[in-house]
Amino acid sequence: MLVKFNLIDREKNKISIEVEEGITIREAIMEKLKPGNFGLCEGNNICATCHVYVDEKDFNRLKPIEDDEKETMETNDIDQKEFSRLSCQIELKQELEDITVTMEIPRR
Ligand code: FES
Repeated sequence: MLVKFNLIDREKNKISIEVEEGITIREAIMEKLKPGNFGLCEGNNICATCHVYVDEKDFNRLKPIEDDEKETMETNDIDQKEFSRLSCQIELKQELEDITVTMEIPRR
């Protein structure tokens, strides 16, 4: 089964990405865009470089955030906001069809 989500990339382009259900948003972004300095710990919930902002309207459709994800965001240098999540911790399922996430633009 395919799942589609929308991504606002670092250049602020909105892209629709369709992938096989069950992979994470981080994996989908890596596969389609291969961005630099992104997802560096390979999805192990350590680096927070896979940080995204989930659209407010979609945020409650995600599984609640786990303590270790929260801790990873708090202990890394990211611009965390109210609807921040780590994309390696979001598995794409049918129930998340059409969600929108925005990549953080890394600071220099
Ligand atoms: S890829 Fe490192 S925390 Fe998600």
